[in-house]
Amino acid sequence: MTDDRAHTAEKSGTAVATAMRATDVIAAYARWAPIYDVVFGRIMESSRRAAVAALPPDTRRVLEVGVGTGISLPDYPSSVRVTGIDLSPDMLAKARQRIAAEKLTNVEAILEMDAARLEFADDAFDCAMAMYVMTVVPDPARVMSEMRRIVRPGGRILAVSHFAPESGVRARIGGLLSPMGRLLGWNTTIRASTLAALPGVRLLSNRAAGLGGFYRLLEFEVAKV
Ligand SMILES: C[S@@+](CC[C@H](N)C(=O)[O-])C[C@H]1O[C@@H](n2cnc3c(N)ncnc32)[C@H](O)[C@@H]1O
Repeated sequence: MTDDRAHTAEKSGTAVATAMRATDVIAAYARWAPIYDVVFGRIMESSRRAAVAALPPDTRRVLEVGVGTGISLPDYPSSVRVTGIDLSPDMLAKARQRIAAEKLTNVEAILEMDAARLEFADDAFDCAMAMYVMTVVPDPARVMSEMRRIVRPGGRILAVSHFAPESGVRARIGGLLSPMGRLLGWNTTIRASTLAALPGVRLLSNRAAGLGGFYRLLEFEVAKV
């Protein structure tokens, strides 16, 4: 997302104040890229695998939004063709190295692109995957809308992240952690219900996916009229 578009999103009320703008994302992940896999590899591994395992058996073509270093790419079955996009050239460079080193022939393309402005035709994919991305982007509603557009009717959007609990003690703790999330560029306040309320998607499941339920896997069906 360009800074202008971030401003527009803020004006429209859909932006999240804690999330980063494109220039911040690129700068932050240039610093993270060399150490990302060591820091966030193992801790998020089971949730990434749970997301890939949730792909319906007839899935042929997946878009992974915010693919980062491509850490999840080896988890996809070889029958699934995967395209990955990300804003950060440094993270994508790592992804390309991994694809070459591990000879991942089912990866169709790795492209520098904004999740809020996907350069793909409508209904081009069976599934859009967003692993630890919805809490980073400035306008999650806009990213959901784009994923919905490029997924065929009846296809899936799968999102893994720490989503804020709807209520109770854990929700209050999430609120208290919000300033820490701001430091890391993560939004700790996005709820599954906020994404589920968006048009054209139906929440099929919201399940624990790692760290004792701290990470959640949301499974949406795309329903277009
Ligand atoms: C926390 S990392 C997650 C990476 C990977 N999906 C994983 O599971 O480890 C977030 C990624 O989202 C990317 N990102 C943030 N905002 C983006 C945007 N608007 N469009 C595309 N990618 C974005 C970042 O560059 C980074 O690679």
